[in-house]
Amino acid sequence: MWLWTALLLWVPVGGQEDPTKAVITLQPPWVDVFQEEAVTLQCEGPRQPGDSSAQWFLNGTAIRTLTPRYYITGAQANDSGEYRCQTELSAPSEPVQLQAHRDWLLLQVSGRVFTEGEPLTMRCHAWKNKIVYNVLFYQNGKAFKFSSQDSELTIPKTNVNHNGIYHCSAMGRYRYTSAGVSVTVQGSQAPNPVWFHILFHLAMGVIFLVSTVLCWIIYKELQRNKKENLKVSLSSDHGKNVTSYLHKDRYVEKELKFQEEKELQKEAHQKSKEGEG
Ligand SMILES: *[C@@H]1O[C@H](CO)[C@@H](O)[C@H](O)[C@H]1NC(C)=O
Ligand SMILES: *[C@@H]1O[C@H](CO)[C@@H](O)[C@H](O)[C@H]1NC(C)=O
Repeated sequence: MWLWTALLLWVPVGGQEDPTKAVITLQPPWVDVFQEEAVTLQCEGPRQPGDSSAQWFLNGTAIRTLTPRYYITGAQANDSGEYRCQTELSAPSEPVQLQAHRDWLLLQVSGRVFTEGEPLTMRCHAWKNKIVYNVLFYQNGKAFKFSSQDSELTIPKTNVNHNGIYHCSAMGRYRYTSAGVSVTVQGSQAPNPVWFHILFHLAMGVIFLVSTVLCWIIYKELQRNKKENLKVSLSSDHGKNVTSYLHKDRYVEKELKFQEEKELQKEAHQKSKEGEG
């Protein structure tokens, strides 16, 4: 029972995101940008009516911006780092790792850490937005996608097989190759909710059944014991025996009396005979 109680308490926590956590969204959605590029971070979370402030943190240090949007107009090396935000009524968000790069070609990803089932978008992006073609995407050194024109790719539902280091190569004046980006896809922590519910109800059903059967058995056992006790008291039947003993005693008494009377009569008979004689 304790195990079930613990499980009941644990599941909602493990199975759902904390609803009071703030969330950072990026526009455009890439956590890797070239230096001098623009990116806007937006903080969403519960607020008091009329309040639109947000607190931003870079590498754990509060930054002065208090607006729900944090604008980076031209990213510099010192804009790189771990961003978190918080609204008045929210807990701090999960961190977003923003990185400002300087290179010819950059593989941009929509995040570095995903939970199974979330979408992953990536783009093979050239410095100063130069046009590239014949793009190849690689996972762990193996090319898995070729695109003559499009340099963007979406995996609608990630799973643990999408873990790994990604890079891309593309043709411009030469063939350029990007640096590698590590992407982590975590298995969902809680079991599939539907499965869990089925399992939970099944287990509850089994528990109910077992306890019902146990109750029935105990009830039957109690009744049987009652009957047996009754039988024992009936079969031992002290009262009957006592009365029969009494009967016997009375019978014996009567018999004795009868014998006695007979003796007395005999005696009287003999006495009268003696008197006659
Ligand atoms: C980065 O450095 C520039 C000056 O080089 C400065 O103006 C800017 O405020 C710095 N940004 C951060 C986030 O520290
Ligand atoms: C934040 O930390 C990362 C390493 O963890 C570092 O590369 C970056 O320069 C730091 N950013 C700032 C603004 O201190």
